[in-house]
Amino acid sequence: MCGIVGYIGKKESLPILLNGLRRLEYRGYDSAGVAIFNGEKIKQVKSVGKIENLLKKTKTENIFGAVGIAHTRWATHGGVKEINAHPHADCTGKLVLVHNGIIENYRELKTKLSAKHKFISETDSEVLAHLIEENYTGNLHEAVKKSLFQVQGTYGLVVMHVDHPELLIAARMGSPLVIGIGEEENFIASDATPMLAYTKKVIFLEDGEMADITKDSVQTYNVQDNFVSKQIEEIDWDEAQAQLQGFPHFMLKEIFDQPTVFKDAIRGRTNMEEGTAHLGGLNMTAEEMKNINRIILIACGTASYAAMVGKYAFERLSGIPTEVDVASEFRYRDPIIDEHTLVFGISQSGETADTLAALREAKRKGAFVRGIVNVVGSTIARETDGGTYIHAGPELAVASTKAYTNMITVLLLYALQFGRSRRLSLATGQRLLNAFLEISEKMQKILSQNEEIKKIAEKYKNSQDFFFLGRGINYPVALEGSLKLKEISYIHSEAYPGGELKHGPLALLSSEFPVFAIMTKNQLYEKMRSNVEEVRARKAPVILIATEGDEQAKELSDEIIYVPKTMELLEPLLNTIPLQLFAYHMAVILGKDVDRPRNLAKSVTVE
Ligand code: G6P
Repeated sequence: MCGIVGYIGKKESLPILLNGLRRLEYRGYDSAGVAIFNGEKIKQVKSVGKIENLLKKTKTENIFGAVGIAHTRWATHGGVKEINAHPHADCTGKLVLVHNGIIENYRELKTKLSAKHKFISETDSEVLAHLIEENYTGNLHEAVKKSLFQVQGTYGLVVMHVDHPELLIAARMGSPLVIGIGEEENFIASDATPMLAYTKKVIFLEDGEMADITKDSVQTYNVQDNFVSKQIEEIDWDEAQAQLQGFPHFMLKEIFDQPTVFKDAIRGRTNMEEGTAHLGGLNMTAEEMKNINRIILIACGTASYAAMVGKYAFERLSGIPTEVDVASEFRYRDPIIDEHTLVFGISQSGETADTLAALREAKRKGAFVRGIVNVVGSTIARETDGGTYIHAGPELAVASTKAYTNMITVLLLYALQFGRSRRLSLATGQRLLNAFLEISEKMQKILSQNEEIKKIAEKYKNSQDFFFLGRGINYPVALEGSLKLKEISYIHSEAYPGGELKHGPLALLSSEFPVFAIMTKNQLYEKMRSNVEEVRARKAPVILIATEGDEQAKELSDEIIYVPKTMELLEPLLNTIPLQLFAYHMAVILGKDVDRPRNLAKSVTVE
């Protein structure tokens, strides 16, 4: 959601900035722009739509120089128009900036500034340019600092000025910024991916911090404007990992990444001899773990469905009452929390505004707060007092797939760790770990049915509505399957626990309304079977996810996708994959933009 890239060095900045914006495409955007200092003045080019449109425009605009900033915008204040795209300039055009976040008091500021300043966009961000211009008396750092004291809201901000051609100023409050350290060149961006091709050395700015960046130096300041020395960290993701590797879309690549990244999530974290997991990042003593009497899992979107699987696992293995809360609800409902509560925030990006706010609230109320996060060095990873990276690698498709399975994997490991420290037997712990060891191969087996699943999507491509049914631990799987289909193919679908069908939704069923049912061989198999019979009686086509060897299931289904048998708690790791593939193929067949679905953003950093 909005991406920032900045470069200061000796090279031509335009290709670096445009490539950087491409790396940030996954965040979602609807317009883009770039500003470059050419030795005399700052020239800007903006366009609505894809980065390719911007690239085309830059070819006719003669824009060059070694210092520049660029931005992809996801509209919040003001429509999707070229004038609202960033960068924004002051009245003189000498000061130019890019901003991610929301300036909450922009109306008041705009009213005050309007007497002297000419606004050309409808955005909150442009206010910042004029405010800094108003406060500018020759020292850009001072002007930015003073202006930020007058602002309420969130920002990731990068400013450049013709009078200071050797300087980029960055500031962060609520919207992430990472500085990349190169040789006679430095970078700044919303995350580290735009700079990975040039450097692996990065500095993460914290909320309230500012940085003065030249090609040879980076000076960082805290909220009191005192110089702070920041640690330079090494990023271990390489560029190739973030590429398509021969797949037509990132989503398909990421679905196929699952057997590999699953192994990454468990590597070094299990102990077969003791039948347990060791997640060092938990940072809790045995005594503290013993005193936990409640667990709350907080997340949004797909991560919240992974959390629902986590709830089953925690309750079954450890006996600790566990709740799942959607972050945007949790933060406003005055939740009951004390020092015996352990809260996990689960987030792929580690930047989701609602999840972050909910975790801050939980922390303020005295809970133990831990993160289960994918993006290394993200805000949630840094603000929590511990936690675990899910090691899914860069996930670039907006619709989450491999992050979801790895979130479940880490939640299962935590549930096992708590279980073994309480009531779970060694034998059950070991059984679970043995089942874990077979998951990667079983995932692979499901992926080998890709072509058959594509054929099913082809057959149902004209259907307008779908139901997804699951029970127990497969109910979240149904929710996730339904979300995937909605997100990328824009087909209406709903998910229900099998037992709820007769309490209303059954009224919708007809021969035009296909139903996906997850009917694997577990303790609820017979119950689910009855639900499938109910569906069949209404003549709705049935697409079954069933356990290999279940021949009877064929009689109940119009289509059947077999998955290998595993322990019930691990079933979501397998059963979700056919649903991901189905959604993917449906979207491709219908000609949708699979990796960047309309209206959605990968990382939602506003409330
Ligand atoms: C957005 C994305 C979803 C994602 C959700 C939570 O809505 O489009 O795919 O599940 O945010 O994101 P997080 O990064 O916190 O997991």
